[in-house]
Amino acid sequence: MLNDWEPPKSFATYKHIAVTRMAGGIGAEVSGVDVSTDLSDAVIAEITGALDENHVIFFRDQNLEPKRQAAFASRFGPLIPYPMVKGLDGTDEVVPVIKNADERMNFGGIWHADTTYLAEPPMGAMLYAVELPPYGGDTLFANMHLAYDTLSHSLQAYLETLTVIQNSAKAEVTRTREDRVNEQGEERIALVSEHPAVIVHPRTGRKSLFVNSGHTERFKELTSEESAPLLDFLFKHQSRPEFTCRFHWTPGAMAFWDNYASQHNPINDYHGFKRLMHRVTIGGGKPQGVGK
Ligand code: SIN
Repeated sequence: MLNDWEPPKSFATYKHIAVTRMAGGIGAEVSGVDVSTDLSDAVIAEITGALDENHVIFFRDQNLEPKRQAAFASRFGPLIPYPMVKGLDGTDEVVPVIKNADERMNFGGIWHADTTYLAEPPMGAMLYAVELPPYGGDTLFANMHLAYDTLSHSLQAYLETLTVIQNSAKAEVTRTREDRVNEQGEERIALVSEHPAVIVHPRTGRKSLFVNSGHTERFKELTSEESAPLLDFLFKHQSRPEFTCRFHWTPGAMAFWDNYASQHNPINDYHGFKRLMHRVTIGGGKPQGVGK
């Protein structure tokens, strides 16, 4: 039933880390861990559990050179290059996410899940704050399990039969990357792929709504005209305030989000100031639909 939901209860117990929920729908801060060190498998398992329960987790006051960030991220899956931006220090793995003081657009400044136009969209990403504006530049996150769970049973069942066409070249998101792609002087071709509109999370088995306003073009089984009103409804529905949290960055903070369970939207409210983040992307294979 629409609107019929309660914040999920926490059942997890943690021995190695402390986990503090920050909103009813999504997000928790994890403390008691220095992610630049070589962590035991038991700690990594608890961090994975915290991610599965909260869908985005945040670490404060970390000190992470790109290579250490990559080393930590690689404990959760294979690192994959981000297709639109070159990596730092000649690596493919750690990319800068930057808005310079004289720029107006912020990178990825729209609700989206990352690179869902790839045949194998990432399982997650880690974003580390290097240089922040004096105010603003927070990032919003939204829970795509709740977005699915709160649809009517009839619409859930219908969406489970549909495939989405995901395209890297939708106009609104393309504008947010223009500064970075232009400075690299390379022409980019549109990347397109098909995925189930509802995916089953590979670790938790929970269903997740896999459409996003950044990259989802239409449903394969419907015309563009038929797809548009349904997608418009879903794009509004999936960012309902009670499904979201808002993270205020501090130097050395790092977010780790589950790209199969959440979406994010960085707020562009700091014109005139620089914001620099380092991002690592973690692969997860091809998301499966219901009954596959
Ligand atoms: C991104 O979409 O990777 C950027 C998020 C942010 O800058 O907060």
